[in-house]
Amino acid sequence: MSDSAQRPRKILITSALPYANGPIHLGHLVEYIQTDIWSRFQKMRGHTCTYVCADDAHGTPIMLRAQAEGITPEALIAKSSEEHQADFSGFNVAFDHYDSTNSPENKAFAERVYLALKEKGFISRKTISQYYDPEKKMFLPDRFVKGTCPKCKAEDQYGDNCEACGATYSPTDLINPTSAVSGATPIEKETDHLFFELNQFEEMLKSWTREGHLQTQIANKLDEWLESGLRAWDISRDAPYFGFEIPGEKDKYFYVWLDAPIGYMSSFKNYCTQSGLDFDEYWKEGSTTELYHFIGKDIINFHALFWPAMLSGAGFRTPSAIFAHGFLTVDGQKMSKSRGTFIMAKTYLEFLNPEYLRYYYAAKLTSRIDDIDLNLEDFAQRVNSDLVGKVVNIASRCAGFVVKKFDGKLSAAWSPEATALYQSFIDKSEEIAGLYESRDYGHAMREIMALADKANEYIAETAPWVLAKEAGKEAQLHESVSLGINLFRVLISYLTPVLPVTAERANAFLKINNVQWNDIKKPLLDHEITKFKPLLTRLEMADIQKMVDASSQTLNTQKTVADGKKDSSNKKKSKAPDSVNASGYEPIANEISIEDFAKIDLRIAKIIHAEAVPEAKKLLKLTLDIGSEQRQVFAGIKSAYDPEQLIGKYTVMVANLAPRKMRFGLSEGMVLAAGSGDSDLYILSPDDGATPGMCVK
Ligand code: 2FM
Ligand code: ZN
Repeated sequence: MSDSAQRPRKILITSALPYANGPIHLGHLVEYIQTDIWSRFQKMRGHTCTYVCADDAHGTPIMLRAQAEGITPEALIAKSSEEHQADFSGFNVAFDHYDSTNSPENKAFAERVYLALKEKGFISRKTISQYYDPEKKMFLPDRFVKGTCPKCKAEDQYGDNCEACGATYSPTDLINPTSAVSGATPIEKETDHLFFELNQFEEMLKSWTREGHLQTQIANKLDEWLESGLRAWDISRDAPYFGFEIPGEKDKYFYVWLDAPIGYMSSFKNYCTQSGLDFDEYWKEGSTTELYHFIGKDIINFHALFWPAMLSGAGFRTPSAIFAHGFLTVDGQKMSKSRGTFIMAKTYLEFLNPEYLRYYYAAKLTSRIDDIDLNLEDFAQRVNSDLVGKVVNIASRCAGFVVKKFDGKLSAAWSPEATALYQSFIDKSEEIAGLYESRDYGHAMREIMALADKANEYIAETAPWVLAKEAGKEAQLHESVSLGINLFRVLISYLTPVLPVTAERANAFLKINNVQWNDIKKPLLDHEITKFKPLLTRLEMADIQKMVDASSQTLNTQKTVADGKKDSSNKKKSKAPDSVNASGYEPIANEISIEDFAKIDLRIAKIIHAEAVPEAKKLLKLTLDIGSEQRQVFAGIKSAYDPEQLIGKYTVMVANLAPRKMRFGLSEGMVLAAGSGDSDLYILSPDDGATPGMCVK
């Protein structure tokens, strides 16, 4: 046993707090499953590990969503909390405590942190000019202003960045801005805001980000930001706002991102009240307990810059580490509602066993921040071959003999060979523990499956079904099936953090309980087991298809609105509430005359080359053959297509669009695509027979 296994540690871990205005989907679950596995692993190792979370309940989108539903924000967040907790528990994510940021405790902590920062001179006040919706009488967050991109002139872009050319700007730079809340033209209005002087923490953060609290990829990214200098962070919002009022101010509220991470503290504080843990021991400056935040890579700045600075400025401990993960793709692409791959937790649970997904994610997860892909065919294949074909199979091959031939009793002693084989499984214990500890779950799963192969080989070699038929082979048969069951027990023990419910059922079959990581050191000798019942059934593609079909049927019934930032687990941007109608499609545009239409020269084009534009999030550079000439076009379809997929395809282009100079070169036309954007995009293609250059009429 290593030192780390012997020394009991006090660990507090968190997952990012999900917004209280949208359902949990498979993208979110990457993080909750990753954290839950870690939490269960630490508990099995005998450490005091506490896993807390909460709903992130404040902000403009939640306020507007409640208004749209005709309910109070409190009613909305209560409903969300219930749904979220049902989804998490459906996936066997076992928080020690789940709270809400809209709690009296969180209010008290937010005020305490803010007042401590203010007292130390880290809060300043500045007058800013912001867009204001004169109809709704509210200031507009960046993503609630839409208009024409000042750079590439693409219409209908958000106030913070252009999805067509990738430019970032402020909402006041937009041409023809409109409020996404009411459709009114916003006016610029001055208002006083409070700022957290992040720049005063530059030196502290330069050291902190290099002290091993962050993954290397993240630390390198932060270096770039730190080198270009930190700006003060705007932490206030004007009324109306759903949040906590700032003490000593009138009609000013804490920005949701100020009190969200403080929710980690208040959720834990509420857990302390029920569990007897000591809050100060975990949060005081210089605490020797461990604090880890699991997050998506898109919210790094909040956790690795603002949060440690806030904590240190307010006299609390800083996190031991931030563990960031990548986003989820499904079948190699961003989750898409129309393809049925934007799958809600609830929909998944209607069709499939949650342990399958836990295993698949575990098999894909590493300690790095790379995106992970849920390939639906590979998913079925991996679950069936590893869990059903390798692990569960061992028990089902041996259990019958133990029950029928030996009254359910495992043998009392083993030959030296059997002991050596068992020992070789136990010898892997620390290595596998190390892989869990470093969140290299994929590697851990590979090691465990290699052991499962070894166990199956042993059973194939000793062939209990042959021994059972031969006279005088009882002792060998007994050893073969008893060792088989013991090896199964080791594998299940190693898999327990990933497959808690399957492990529980396996433990009932093995008649063992309260399983700890080191229990396997003592084999089950002369031990009674019960009758075996299949622990997991095969995962059928037909069931996966049913889930996909059900997901495309629920298309657009749920929308998430982010407050100027993205969802934590899948980068798909959410639209502001009024940009689509109830059917989920954009409203039909204003009428045009036949003469207007005739002006558009649509041509069949063959895509002869396609490549990604590395500096632009959305763009692919296409070379199109339109018969008489070739054209270069930048198309915002990166998230929906791999460039190689497009080469050789025929499509339709607007051939007489005035060329546009973009940051990356000249765009000489436009290809036609359907869909709402992001991965939900389909380029139009003609039927067979059309040739490049043909006019489209
Ligand atoms: O990105 C999000 O979904 C946020 N609700 C995460 C908040 S994490 C923490 F800081 F509270
Ligand atoms: Zn643009």
